Amino acid sequence: MKDSLLAAARKILECDGTTAVFSGAGLSVASGLSTFRDPDPDSLWSRFDPQELASLDGFRANPERVIEWYQWRRQIHANIKPNPAHIALAQQPDLIQITQNVDYLLERAGLDPDNVYHLHGTITRDRCQHDSCEYFEIIDMTNPPGFRHCPQCSGIMRPAVVWFGEGLPQDTWAQAQTLCKQINSLIIVGTSAAVYPASGLISLAKRHGSKIIVINTDKSKASRHADIEIFGEAAIVLPELLDGLRLKSIQTN
Ligand code: OAD
Repeated sequence: MKDSLLAAARKILECDGTTAVFSGAGLSVASGLSTFRDPDPDSLWSRFDPQELASLDGFRANPERVIEWYQWRRQIHANIKPNPAHIALAQQPDLIQITQNVDYLLERAGLDPDNVYHLHGTITRDRCQHDSCEYFEIIDMTNPPGFRHCPQCSGIMRPAVVWFGEGLPQDTWAQAQTLCKQINSLIIVGTSAAVYPASGLISLAKRHGSKIIVINTDKSKASRHADIEIFGEAAIVLPELLDGLRLKSIQTN
């Protein structure tokens, strides 16, 4: 069954068209990161309260607590490596990656940062909380900073990620929407597709005629859009799916 689904998905991708990848936390599971809302007790939102740790209100109420949580996460990120799923994607340099992941594993696998659209920002940078101040810093993940103020203004430094209730980075979001209206197929990998507006890209692509290929260990909110749904781990299925193909998101010749 899986083999015939893989063959059908490869046929869609091999056709003379353009594709892109939309990923979530399941992509990085084989690197040792937890997902957010899987039922297992290791998932982040089974252990921690997102309102407390991943919202602007939570940050305003207790910034030290939020920064401390990110220090803990950053130290985990410092010790992980790209897995075979990231490596398989990195072998497709003309493919745009739209990701909700704040890790930097796609870039560390070799992808050009310009080809990775981080809809939820990245944990590898801090920025000043004041929107009018553009100060940011690249973080040493092995020695992440604690609570501190912006050296340019009175703001508090915070991770350059998108929290619940915050808007997505405008330019990146516009680029992702434009791309999803143009491609012929979209590969969805390792996401529950439960968080809007990011997951709205799936129905947007579908409405514009894109075929939808879903890779996940389980059913997700992307399932109902799927033309092909392959159940399995990203680190196993993606290398099989992409082996020998040379895909592109935009016309490069
Ligand atoms: P979720 O935790 O919501 O979903 C992870 C998905 O990965 C689930 O559908 C799992 O079935 C699937 N999965 C687990 N292991 C897998 C594996 N080895 N291979 C393939 N699939 C696997 O994570 P996201 O969808 O990424 O946002 O969550 C979206 C956003 O919600 C995150 O960016 C984060 C979170 O709250 C913010 O923090 C703003």
